[in-house]
Amino acid sequence: MKNFIANWKMNGSIEVLETYCQHLASNQEHLTDSMILALPALYIPMARHYLKNTPVAIAAQCVSAHNDGAYTGQLSARMFAELGCSYAIIGHSERREIESIESTKNQMLQCIHSGLKPILCIGETLQEKNEMKTIEILTSQLQPMLTLEQQGHDIWVAYEPRWAIGSGLTPDNNEINIVADWFKGLSAAKFIYGGSVNPDNIENLAKCTLDGFLVGGASLDYNLTNQMVSICTHCS
Ligand code: 13P
Repeated sequence: MKNFIANWKMNGSIEVLETYCQHLASNQEHLTDSMILALPALYIPMARHYLKNTPVAIAAQCVSAHNDGAYTGQLSARMFAELGCSYAIIGHSERREIESIESTKNQMLQCIHSGLKPILCIGETLQEKNEMKTIEILTSQLQPMLTLEQQGHDIWVAYEPRWAIGSGLTPDNNEINIVADWFKGLSAAKFIYGGSVNPDNIENLAKCTLDGFLVGGASLDYNLTNQMVSICTHCS
């Protein structure tokens, strides 16, 4: 079984969420706690209500690097934990535009203190890939996670090449396995892949040394989600 993490980003509506959750709740054949929904924060209480009799877990899409205080508009890891979240995506490339590596470390610490499992995203740009800098970039993004892992904390890592996000492009299986093998040499943590995953390519991608998938666009559609979750459930 592979983990399936749906990242809705800033998409959806109350109506879309209701329909999606009702479908999930009434068709639980493939559902396990390996399915994780990263929703816009405002929709989390509603999703928790609709999914209360399912094993589906909920994730925050980001958390503040701070504990409490005068940080207008920010939401703390503790607040997400209070709402029943179990995970938080940290350092998504769409957030790394405005967040430093130091900030991702503080966000992971906030998650750990609040009982959320961090899912740290790492990934190189196309230019960095073409300049053969992939491992160098991933190493710098991963460093805070490795330090925390050495201190005994369980943090998952999602490899999301920036050029693969929303582009319809994916690395080939060999390229993913090179990164996965490099990662497995450094860490015992779960290693997830994200970037243009859909029902047509997920079965092939699942042949890589991966523990699961982080899916954006295709996860907004219940039918596509159901197909992908079903494949994940049957993969070793
Ligand atoms: P897409 O699946 O839309 O490429 O997005 C991937 C992603 O960024 C998930 O976090």
